[in-house]
Amino acid sequence: MCGPASEQPMKWIKLFNSRQAALDKIADHQPRLVAVGEQQICLVRQGDSFYAVSNRCTHNGESLSKGKVNFANEIVCPWHGYQFNLKTGREYQQRSADLETFPIKIEPDGVYIAL
Ligand code: FES
Repeated sequence: MCGPASEQPMKWIKLFNSRQAALDKIADHQPRLVAVGEQQICLVRQGDSFYAVSNRCTHNGESLSKGKVNFANEIVCPWHGYQFNLKTGREYQQRSADLETFPIKIEPDGVYIAL
């Protein structure tokens, strides 16, 4: 048996046609709002790495893509300053629920996000 029946299979969706296109379009350390279907994603590039989290702050719904990235690899919400780890989605003091995180993979033919 594999996971619970309610679990949806992951679907990989192409965001960019190449790694270079992603590096060219997404500035380092500057959160970017990306709409993928119905999902609003906050995409962050840190050097050569990309992170994707839900754009909606779990505290009060602010758009995290308007926030900043700090030295601890956290996205800082511009409204009340909650800090969410970009890898795990966890607010560092657990003042609100974890953010949803989305895997990113870089393949020879493009950069993909799993929803
Ligand atoms: S809405 Fe994000 S910290 Fe309050």
